[in-house]
Amino acid sequence: MYKNNKDFLWGGATSACQIEGGYDIGGKSLTISEMRPFNPKLNRKNLSEVFAYNKQDYIDSIKNDKGLHYPKRYGINFYNNYKEDIALFKESGMNVFRLSISWARFFPKGDEENPCKEAIEFYKNVFTECHKNSIEPVVTIEHSDLPYSIIEKYNGWLNPVTIKLFMKLVKVLFKEFNQYVKYWMPFNEINTVLMAPDSGAGIFREDFKNEHEYLQASYQSLHHKFIAQAEVVKLAHSDYKNIHIGCMVANISTYPIDCNPINVLENEKYQQLMKYFFFDVMAKGFYPTYMLKYFKNNSIVLDISDYDLNLLKENTVDFISFSYYSSGTMGQKNEEVNSSNLVLLGKNPFLKETEWGWQIDPIGLRITLNDLWNRYNLPLFISENGIGVLEELNSDETVDDYYRIDYLKSHIKQLLLAIEDGVDLFGYTMWTPIDVVSASTNEMSKRYGMIYVDYDDYHKGTGKRYKKSSFHWFKNFRKTGKL
Ligand code: BG6
Repeated sequence: MYKNNKDFLWGGATSACQIEGGYDIGGKSLTISEMRPFNPKLNRKNLSEVFAYNKQDYIDSIKNDKGLHYPKRYGINFYNNYKEDIALFKESGMNVFRLSISWARFFPKGDEENPCKEAIEFYKNVFTECHKNSIEPVVTIEHSDLPYSIIEKYNGWLNPVTIKLFMKLVKVLFKEFNQYVKYWMPFNEINTVLMAPDSGAGIFREDFKNEHEYLQASYQSLHHKFIAQAEVVKLAHSDYKNIHIGCMVANISTYPIDCNPINVLENEKYQQLMKYFFFDVMAKGFYPTYMLKYFKNNSIVLDISDYDLNLLKENTVDFISFSYYSSGTMGQKNEEVNSSNLVLLGKNPFLKETEWGWQIDPIGLRITLNDLWNRYNLPLFISENGIGVLEELNSDETVDDYYRIDYLKSHIKQLLLAIEDGVDLFGYTMWTPIDVVSASTNEMSKRYGMIYVDYDDYHKGTGKRYKKSSFHWFKNFRKTGKL
């Protein structure tokens, strides 16, 4: 079926702070992600270590008098290399490239009158280059890179003023780029506000009296992001009929550890809190009753106006998007915990895991697609899916990444089966077409790409690009339709 569908989008995804570099070009200010250093001693499997930053670490990073290395300030130098990279994407057979823009390039302080011209010019060039190469750009507006200036001055997303600052940015983006970009996602993985409130919302534990206040502030910040998301939909639907707005959620997939109804129920509750809640608000347009109950039971009081409730109701998304990497288990007697993307989950004895402890579950992707399609009946787009591995260039300047081919092949097979099941899926972007700096561990060593980039964890190297085996495999898949 997909072979006949010429419009299906096949490609790769990245984010600004993981690829661009040029952190101070054109007046750009620092974003929260660019203030996290590389830590060579980090235990990769220990999520609490991975996310252990405190406010002072961020403040210290501005002066950087400890001489630490901040990888996301350098990325893979896409800022200067985008033409070559996009040409390689085309050669691989990609017809879609999901990327994000950097808010701090447009409004370094967040509240300036006018945007920086360099930012407009840079992204116009990138989008033009995509179209020249027959690649559809799909754009995320905020991907873990809130400008620090907005955090410092306004307390990030906790302050409703940030909605206004964000909409100022969005107005510029739509005005300048609506002819270039059809598909937009206001936020990457909106649920990360709760898992990593520092980068997701721009708030810090140290600023709150206790865990309860911190949690309440996280939900309030999330509410402001929901409102911003709905305002974007409203603007697009009223003034830009040619563009489509999607939500993007980190799909936290879990199975009950066994068929004991207690565990099944626990899993269901977990899925509501960690996954369905976010899709429900943005796709159905209201706070589900299970969340209202949760807030009540946990004494969480949010400032939500009638205007907000109406806005959410009237402005639901055009499509649903999500990242999918792994799955885990939930339930009692679940002794072995395993790290997956963003959360700690139980082990599943039927699955293998990556070096970072993420369990590989292609069938889970088919289950997820069926579940989301039948729950929301909105077109679906897989925004991220891929495998991070330690890799080195062989002496013949290749990387034989058969494991990545296996990973991608098995997931694509399942998404094709989901389409046969009747799911309306219109695109798939692997994470990533090219090696990038890791989001969680700030290292270059955790490589996801079909294209190898010669930089190490300290941004040392030639920066040259090399095609891995997966590049040739994907190219053949796009040409022949054969997996
Ligand atoms: C997703 C993020 O959660 O996971 C990406 O949207 C990120 O930005 C990806 O890179 C993989 O995570 P990591 O930590 O391995 O880079």
